Amino acid sequence: MGYKVVVAGATGNVGREMLNILAEREFPIDEIAALASRKSLGTEISFGDKTVKTKDLETFDFTGWDIALFAVGSDATKIYAPKAAAAGCVVIDNSSLYRYDPAVPLIVPEVNADAIAGYTNKMIIANPNCSTAQMVVALKPLHDRARIKRVVVSTYQSVSGAGKEGIDELWDQTKGLYVPG
Ligand SMILES: NC(=O)c1ccc[n+]([C@@H]2O[C@H](COP(=O)([O-])OP(=O)(O)OC[C@H]3O[C@@H](n4cnc5c(N)ncnc54)[C@H](OP(=O)(O)O)[C@@H]3O)[C@@H](O)[C@H]2O)c1
Repeated sequence: MGYKVVVAGATGNVGREMLNILAEREFPIDEIAALASRKSLGTEISFGDKTVKTKDLETFDFTGWDIALFAVGSDATKIYAPKAAAAGCVVIDNSSLYRYDPAVPLIVPEVNADAIAGYTNKMIIANPNCSTAQMVVALKPLHDRARIKRVVVSTYQSVSGAGKEGIDELWDQTKGLYVPG
């Protein structure tokens, strides 16, 4: 038996990739829902060798859904993640909204999978940003051996970190430089 899985932010960079990875890894899914804003209603999104039609996050009923992967930014997460959680659907949030909430486990599976049990507090699980998630996977075994006290980090974020608007802006600027007129 599989799960009923929601991807909120399915038209975005992160949401599309989530759908790709769920399909690629053959995550046990009985039913999938792709959600975005009203303006994307009906947009067809790839899920493995199928396509799914995007639904409106604002009016979606999370009752009976098992897991919702959220990639909609903090503002929309603030409104809709508690709704999903109240309907009994476990939210796994990619935004920064819940990262410092002591009642919400902040999980990197390779590092602190045990802490996931705390999801029952709010039915929400947070994850750190992308540079932190990959860094702590490398730091964990060092920490286990030698107790790391402090880490000094500089990150150089890619434009794609600003979402599809950021990528479009870079594309327009690049065209502006190299394409006459
Ligand atoms: N944890 C990590 O490693 C990591 C890495 C990168 C990004 N993120 C986070 O993931 C989130 C998404 O990033 P992204 O790069 O995918 O952004 P994006 O490309 O701009 O996509 C945003 C998605 O959210 C939807 N959305 C935005 N506001 C909405 C609203 N009010 N109601 C319904 N849907 C709404 C958009 O739908 P429309 O297309 O209909 O507008 C779109 O599907 C952000 O919170 C970002 O900080 C996390």
